[in-house]
Amino acid sequence: MKLSWIREHYHEVNARNHEEYLLKLFEQEIAQREKRKINLLLKSATLPNKYGKTFDWKDIELGQGITQTDLLDGKFIERKENLIFYGGVGVGKTYLSTLIGLNVIRKYGMRVKFYTVASLVNQLLEANEKGLLNKLFKQIEKLDLLILDELGYIPLHK
Ligand SMILES: Nc1ncnc2c1ncn2[C@@H]1O[C@H](COP(=O)(O)OP(=O)(O)OP(=O)(O)O)[C@@H](O)[C@H]1O
Ligand SMILES: [Mg+2]
Repeated sequence: MKLSWIREHYHEVNARNHEEYLLKLFEQEIAQREKRKINLLLKSATLPNKYGKTFDWKDIELGQGITQTDLLDGKFIERKENLIFYGGVGVGKTYLSTLIGLNVIRKYGMRVKFYTVASLVNQLLEANEKGLLNKLFKQIEKLDLLILDELGYIPLHK
């Protein structure tokens, strides 16, 4: 039954009766699965992994009717809206999109993928050469949130 947590830890669980013992085993098994799922989602999202300090909202201008909480909670995802972040170099566009990605994975178990536009174009070209374009499209269609960074930095293959 692939109860991997139970297999490894069943002898460490203390309980007052059989029912409580079973309950504890399965609660832990489920918690472990949830954790593994989140870890997999985090890994496959390929978000940049370099932001340590707290995000500073001081100079961030949000569009009308958008709040910080709405953004971090991915409210725009539920509404199937797109967001565009624009501004000068180093003002936090990549950082904020990363934070949103992390948050909706941890909080809602959403499927997220981060690409720079150039890397997505390269992967599309490669998939096309290998006849795997449809497979890549399907993977992208399954996402809840697609983050496209560095739009318009370099000329791209048509
Ligand atoms: N609002 C912010 N709060 C905290 N740190 C920030 C903020 N904005 C930028 N930084 C810091 O500045 C650095 C650059 O931020 P980021 O990479 O998100 O900028 P960017 O807008 O994506 O720039 P570019 O246009 O060059 O891609 C990051 O390492 C980040 O730690
Ligand atoms: Mg950036």
